[in-house]
Amino acid sequence: MENNIRGGNAPIACELEANKNYAWCTCGHSINQPFCNGNHKKEKASNPLIFSTEESKEAYLCTCKLTSNPPYCDGSHNK
Ligand code: FES
Repeated sequence: MENNIRGGNAPIACELEANKNYAWCTCGHSINQPFCNGNHKKEKASNPLIFSTEESKEAYLCTCKLTSNPPYCDGSHNK
């Protein structure tokens, strides 16, 4: 989306709880990376991706927003 930016240049390790909904920032404007803080509204950028996991786990969540496997880092930040 036109108003989206990179939110960072490396993934952030996050402890995810099973069956809990998370809002992953897709626009890059959140100051609470990798999660949404509502900034997409004032920036007219893309909405967050709501996701959950079936098991509690640590995961590396993308901040650059270039991943092909959101919300997870796939190494695209190195491009
Ligand atoms: S931080 Fe976006 S692909 Fe790694």
